[in-house]
Amino acid sequence: MTLPPSPEAALDDLLREDRRFPPPTAFRDGARVSDEAIYREAEADPEAFWARWAGELHWFTPWTEVLEWEAPRARWFSGGELNVAYNCLDRHLDGPRRNQAALIWEGEPGDTRTYTYWDLHRETSKFANALKGLGVGKGDRVAIYLPMVPEAAIAMLACARIGAIHSVVFGGFSPESLADRINDAEAKVLITADGGYRRGNVVPLKRNADQALERCSSIEHVVVVARGWNIARTTQTTLKPGRDLWYHDLVAEASADCPAEPMESEETLFILYTSGTTGKPKGVVHSTGGYLTQVYATTRLVFDLRDDDVYWCTADVGWITGHSYIVYGPLANGAAVVMYEGAPDFPDRGRFWEICEKYGVTIFYTAPTAIRAFMKWGEEWVGKSDLSRLRLLGTVGEPINPEAWIWYHRVIGGERCPIVDTWWQTETGAIMITPLPGVTETRPGSATRAFPGISATILSETGEEVPAGYLAITRPWPSMLRTIWGDDTRFRETYWSKWDGIYFPGDGAKREEDGYFWVLGRVDDVLNVAGHRIGTMEVESALVDHPAVAEAAVVGKSHDVKGQAIAAFVTLKEGRQPSDELAYTLKGHVAEKIGSIARPEDIIFSADLPKTRSGKIMRRLLRDIAEGKALGDTTTLADPDVVRRLKERYEEGA
Ligand code: WTA
Repeated sequence: MTLPPSPEAALDDLLREDRRFPPPTAFRDGARVSDEAIYREAEADPEAFWARWAGELHWFTPWTEVLEWEAPRARWFSGGELNVAYNCLDRHLDGPRRNQAALIWEGEPGDTRTYTYWDLHRETSKFANALKGLGVGKGDRVAIYLPMVPEAAIAMLACARIGAIHSVVFGGFSPESLADRINDAEAKVLITADGGYRRGNVVPLKRNADQALERCSSIEHVVVVARGWNIARTTQTTLKPGRDLWYHDLVAEASADCPAEPMESEETLFILYTSGTTGKPKGVVHSTGGYLTQVYATTRLVFDLRDDDVYWCTADVGWITGHSYIVYGPLANGAAVVMYEGAPDFPDRGRFWEICEKYGVTIFYTAPTAIRAFMKWGEEWVGKSDLSRLRLLGTVGEPINPEAWIWYHRVIGGERCPIVDTWWQTETGAIMITPLPGVTETRPGSATRAFPGISATILSETGEEVPAGYLAITRPWPSMLRTIWGDDTRFRETYWSKWDGIYFPGDGAKREEDGYFWVLGRVDDVLNVAGHRIGTMEVESALVDHPAVAEAAVVGKSHDVKGQAIAAFVTLKEGRQPSDELAYTLKGHVAEKIGSIARPEDIIFSADLPKTRSGKIMRRLLRDIAEGKALGDTTTLADPDVVRRLKERYEEGA
């Protein structure tokens, strides 16, 4: 098996890790779950376990079957009808919760808005009616390209309310990436904003959207949120008559009475695009009943969520973490959710901690890449704010190195907060491997054990259980992806063809004798750059799209903050000369084609790329070169000298 280079190097460190952190007694005593019985209960009858959680939601019609499973096709709670927005909003309106904060939002410039459950219900209903007025109905696709503003959550919930399928596109993606996603899903309406704040600048979302729409024919209307009229001026937002409408005009006229559409449990709630091993992102399709059940249960147990908690997940709604753990999971639980628009270092590096103090955040969920950035910036920024209300910390998105874990524990958590290192994916929809904070002894760098009702193991290529190999999920789970939008063959091949009826997540992992999992990173051509998934092929296609480039091979190299960074080996067309300017141009070209998250860190020009005799690029060698490592066996190469020359080139440049 081929493990990516950085996790492999990290493996030794991880295995030397013998520090143990049992749940603090005070935490355990008050925790929702504080003993192992829940694992035994779930293991004895996983379907009954999940049915119990589903039963805590509101169903218009009860289900008849908990699970029908014919790999890879799962149907959870079939026959049942429910509505996700109803469960996130209406369900909380009968008791005192209706006047409690649902969304506590802060914009980057410091403006704030708080919505109670009552408010959020009203605003969602109005916007849902507005969408209906634009001809959006059940099953129609709606693209959402917004900054982190309350309207992003409202738009998602409004779609859910009327049974429209949303496809949220991260605001950092380029016009071209947006257009590809709109076209693949054939979205009818696009919801965007005049702009959004990021590090003091305005991201011109509407301008990007207009560019994207030159290549899209399915969009009938564009709804534009006025993030601030001042922004509208700086980004010269113009509305195209007949197509574009201001959000505030639409909701001003809309009725606040919009019944929630009963949805069959298996009907699609949303599509979310994620990177895979080809140049084309996959539209991961999630269901209604199963998805909500698992995000509801995991939010409640993994974060030990209570009525008096103030919960903050720093992800963007453009990623799965934002869908499941900013919007659907926490709101289904009636939580008070903090949402922040901007960068962690604006106006200074203490911004996150000021927000924690200001709103009294008790649960904080972020990515290891952010933690490593905080470490680098220094403890003094943290010390300026009072973090004593924090009681639980979480991480997600990539393996966390023990050093960062320990820093998080000590500096942010004041050595009193348990840390939940949660492993999951866009495809799994919800958390799969994680500690339960009142039960599980944690070990820095380990996501510990499968959540109750989830069955995970490690398999070899041929399907034998092994201590180190590929992570595998051996039973269906409620929030599993149902297919890839428009490409069921790719769904079957990507996830279900390695072993019979067992899900292949694409990660390498290792397990200790007592069952603790250590997830080491991707084993396919997917990079994890600052917690974002980027396909090497996507970056390669963007590079060869440039007129100077003949061929490109992209690999990941270790990076102390981002986890991985992108290194691109490029051969130029006849007559083109390598130069620093060209390297700079190519980096910019990738950022423009995909989005700045995909900008390569290094561009290495080379007359040739190392290939096997059958013409396959030897990525492994390129990775070694990018990591500055000694080279392994090069005898299978068509021209072994290529590697020597490349290595010399790289070292000259580095
Ligand atoms: C990685 C993010 C180690 C993994 C929710 C996975 C992790 C990919 C962890 C999914 C973790 C996520 N420890 N690795 N706790 N969490 N990953 O789809 O490689 O953006 O396959 O979903 O991130 O990334 P995605």
